[in-house]
Amino acid sequence: MFGAGYIGLVTGACLAELGHTVAVRDILPERVELLQAGEVPIYEPGLGDMTLRNEERLRFTLDAEDAVRGAEVAYVCVDTPPTASGDADLSRVWAVVDALKGASHLLALVVKSTVPVGTGRRIRAALDAAGLGHVGYVSNPEFTAEGRAVSDFMNPDRIVIGASDPAAADLIKGLHAGVNGPAVVMDVASAEMTKLAANAALATKITLANELATVCEATGADIERVTEAIGMDHRIGPHFLKAGLGYGGSCFPKDSRALHALASNAGYSFQLLRTVIEVNGLQARRHLQRLKEELGGSFEGRSVALLGMTFKAGTDDMREGPSTIIASRLLAEGAEVRCWDPMAQPGPGQPWDSTTRHAGPLEAMAGADAAVIVTEWPELRDAPWAEAHTAMRTPLLLDGRNLLDGAAMAQLGFTYMSVGRPTVRP
Ligand code: UDX
Repeated sequence: MFGAGYIGLVTGACLAELGHTVAVRDILPERVELLQAGEVPIYEPGLGDMTLRNEERLRFTLDAEDAVRGAEVAYVCVDTPPTASGDADLSRVWAVVDALKGASHLLALVVKSTVPVGTGRRIRAALDAAGLGHVGYVSNPEFTAEGRAVSDFMNPDRIVIGASDPAAADLIKGLHAGVNGPAVVMDVASAEMTKLAANAALATKITLANELATVCEATGADIERVTEAIGMDHRIGPHFLKAGLGYGGSCFPKDSRALHALASNAGYSFQLLRTVIEVNGLQARRHLQRLKEELGGSFEGRSVALLGMTFKAGTDDMREGPSTIIASRLLAEGAEVRCWDPMAQPGPGQPWDSTTRHAGPLEAMAGADAAVIVTEWPELRDAPWAEAHTAMRTPLLLDGRNLLDGAAMAQLGFTYMSVGRPTVRP
């Protein structure tokens, strides 16, 4: 298993749980040392226990040759970050392919990293040129969501296996014996496309809900009632229709840009996806603008509490979440920013250096002119809102996740703004 990130660690631990022997290789010495000491460097429910439980079948190493020695299958789970042009940077994937050059005992190479369509074909050619024509090539994209990765791996909606030959497909299908979900076998390019297409479909669905929410705000309708009712139509479905401050995370923003770039490189302008990306980029900013208007048109000298910093609840990951856009904008416009989050661990760097961190939601809201719910942490549903009302300088709340009941908040004395629902005043 090359790469001890979210995907590599979860896949490694789950394959060990299924009875396979797994060596996980990473290039970061501190990460490997931590794993060797029995600690898991990421937060993922169930992963720590699963790693411990399977320690006899799971080992961690810095050495690529050591990882591949005796292996039948090599997995590529390294990251493919976007370059300035939006194309994926595949240098880490190619470094793994290079490291396999002498491994003639391998039966298959499986790529789980998200890569542009056509990458498998190029890797296949490189393997053939290196005398590894007998090594099957498999694209096996991952659809697990953070915070649910272990259970998603064990109970997937489907396992996508795009293989260069039927024997490789059977081998990888066999590795998943014990996983509770159907395998869908296809060619390599279609499997690569399926990953990007699934994330584009979900990002588009969320964006549809966000745009409908904007129209609801303008017309007095309630997006929660509307999405509940349209979601009951089985052709639409209830999932990924939750309006908010825009999708974030390590996949949707990156993969939608990658698919757009892939289409552009093929000479096609993917207009729907470009609009999704643009609308999502404006979503948090647009709601901040509403908040500013409610505060009389300026954030200068105001104090704003940000409740939640991660891109969603149940993770410590802040990548591409709306909180960074909001904090940067508020600071740029002269506000003081007070943050609370139960798990986020921002590294050094703007904008977080200029914000203050507080132990609880109430502490963050004390003295603030407005509070913004950014992440749907369950703690916020039951926060001491009556006390917060007394502690705030101005009891103004923007609920970016539609967590709370507007009428109840207005009764407590809040001016309560949310996404796609009428603003309620005391
Ligand atoms: C996602 C995909 O679900 C997963 O299949 C893929 O492999 C990686 O990307 P993840 O990024 O962990 O997983 O989070 P997910 O729970 O899908 O949420 C993505 C973003 O969309 C979050 O910012 C979330 O808050 C937002 N979202 C999700 C909404 O705004 N509304 C919704 O209805 C659902």
